[in-house]
Amino acid sequence: MVRDSREGERLAARTRAWPPGDAGTLPGVNGTNEQAGGAERTRRVLSGIQPTGGAHLGNYLGALRWWVDFQDRYDAYYCVVDLHALTVPGDPEELRKATIEMATVLLACGLRPDRCTLFAQSHVPAHAELAWLLECTASMGELSRMTQFKDKAAKGSEESARVGLFTYPVLMAADILLYDADLVPVGDDQRQHLELTRDLAQRWNARYGRTFTVPEAAIPPPGRGARVMDLQEPASKMSKSAASDAGVLYLFDDPATIERKVKRAVTDLDPPGPGTVRWDREAKPGVSNLLELLAALEGTGPEQVAARYDSYGKLKSDLAQAVVSTLEPIQARYRELSADPATVHDVLRAGAKRAAVHAGEVLERARSAIGLLQP
Ligand code: TYM
Repeated sequence: MVRDSREGERLAARTRAWPPGDAGTLPGVNGTNEQAGGAERTRRVLSGIQPTGGAHLGNYLGALRWWVDFQDRYDAYYCVVDLHALTVPGDPEELRKATIEMATVLLACGLRPDRCTLFAQSHVPAHAELAWLLECTASMGELSRMTQFKDKAAKGSEESARVGLFTYPVLMAADILLYDADLVPVGDDQRQHLELTRDLAQRWNARYGRTFTVPEAAIPPPGRGARVMDLQEPASKMSKSAASDAGVLYLFDDPATIERKVKRAVTDLDPPGPGTVRWDREAKPGVSNLLELLAALEGTGPEQVAARYDSYGKLKSDLAQAVVSTLEPIQARYRELSADPATVHDVLRAGAKRAAVHAGEVLERARSAIGLLQP
C-alpha cells in the first residue's frame, strides 16, 4: 500500500528510492482480506529480522526480497527485532550500532519509508507488554517443543540459556498479533513459530473473545529460496551464527569472496556427464542447494536450471555471477546510506510513531479482553 504520509515521502526522498526488482509473487497471496469484520481492507503484512550478525543470501532470498515486493501490495510493517537480539549474549554498544546497520541494509535492499512502516521493535513498548499477556496463555510444553530453542540451547548449555531464549517465540507472536497481520513473509525456518502464533491467537480468541487476527505464513515455494543451505554443510541452513563463514554468502561479500565461496561449495561425488546436475535434495544436497540458489535469483525453478548444465564448474561460475550482479546494487546503496546514519535513525523514529498507533489499539483490545482494569 502506498502511504500518503508526508513524513514518509520526505524520508524517502532523503534515502533516495531504489526501485525493487521483479521478485515474482508467492502463490495464493491476494491483495485484500475479508477476515476482519466482513469488510474488505488492505491486507496487512508484518515481519522482522534480528540485528545480530551480517545479513546473508538466505535472509534475502527467504524473506527480504519478499518484503520489498509486498510493500507495494499490502499495508506493510517491518521491524528490526532488537529485543529478540537480547536473548543471546552481546555487547550493548554493538547492538545499538547493529540496529542502525540492519535498518540500513533493509533500505538498501529496497524498502521505502513512504511505502512501508519500518521501525525498531523496542521503540514500540506494546511488543513487550503483549508478550507478557501471551506468555500467560502459552504453556511450558508448547514452548519446549520449539526446535529453534532446542538447537540454540544445545550450542551452549540449557542450564545457562537465557529465559528470553525460551520465551522468544511468544515475543515474536506479539510482534505479529499487534498489527492484525494477515501475512508474515518468512523463510521456512520460521514455520514452527508461525504455527505457535496461530495457536496462541486461536486459543486467546476462544477463551477471551475475538481479539486477534489469525495470521498466515507467506513462505516461498520449496526450492526457491525458502531454505537456503550452508555451502559447506548443505544439511544445515545458511545462518548468521554458523561456526565458519566459508559456507555463508553475506550481502556484503565482495565479488572475489563470492566467487571463492561458490567455487569451494561442497558438491556431490558423481562423475561429470548427463544426469550429474540434478535437483535431488536427498541424494545430492550440495548441488541441489546451488540449483535452488540460481533458480531463486533468476525467478525460475531448480529443475529448469538443472536441465541447462552437465558440469558443476559451469553451474558454479554462473551462480557466482548471478549472486554478484544481484548484490552489486544493494552494496552500492548501502555505501551511500551508511554515510548518513542520522537519516536512517529518523526513518526508524517516524516508523515507530506510525506503528505505535496500531499497536496501541490492539494492545488495548487485549488488555480489556483479558480482564485488566482501565488505568
Ligand atoms: P532471522 O533474523 O533469523 O531471519 C530473518 C528472516 O530470514 C529468513 N532466513 C532464511 N530464509 C531462507 N534460508 C535461510 N537460510 C534463512 N535464514 C534466515 C528467516 O526465516 C526470517 O524470515 N524469529 C525471526 C525474527 C522475528 C520475526 C518476528 C519474523 C521476530 N519477530 C515477527 C517474522 C515476524 C528471526 O530470528 O529471523
